[in-house]
Amino acid sequence: MTDPGTIDWAALQAAAQSAMKHAYAPYSQFPVGAAALVEDGRIVSGCNVENASYGLGLCAECSLVSALQMSGGGRLVAVVCVDRNGAALMPCGRCRQLLWEHGGPDCLVQTVRGVLPMTDVLPDAFDASDLEERGDAG
Ligand code: THU
Repeated sequence: MTDPGTIDWAALQAAAQSAMKHAYAPYSQFPVGAAALVEDGRIVSGCNVENASYGLGLCAECSLVSALQMSGGGRLVAVVCVDRNGAALMPCGRCRQLLWEHGGPDCLVQTVRGVLPMTDVLPDAFDASDLEERGDAG
């Protein structure tokens, strides 16, 4: 696992806050920004993008993962999500699954309780290994 002390958390926080300013959140009035360090050193970011069918809104983490894929893919090493004040915001349940998929168990997350690995953010996660081991093909 990456040593949390080697991550430039301030840069990630700044990138997340900058992304938050692009949020389209006319329904909730709750802008969110997210930024992540990718294993190859690049930083990807995203903001929430809502729509009139409230439940179909896209979280900032969804936007971040789209940016990850569109810029070459790879594994997320460290993630920061922020609210309108730049304070750490916990990813929602759906987005914890999304971050697990693209960062795995060792991905570090800046949480409201400090930096934690994804194994603490989404304990006992369901993932592709369950499909392989317990599915028809397993
Ligand atoms: N939101 C995110 O973008 N990420 C999260 O992990 C928590 C919630 C957004 C969704 C919605 O646009 C707004 O915050 C209020 O729920």
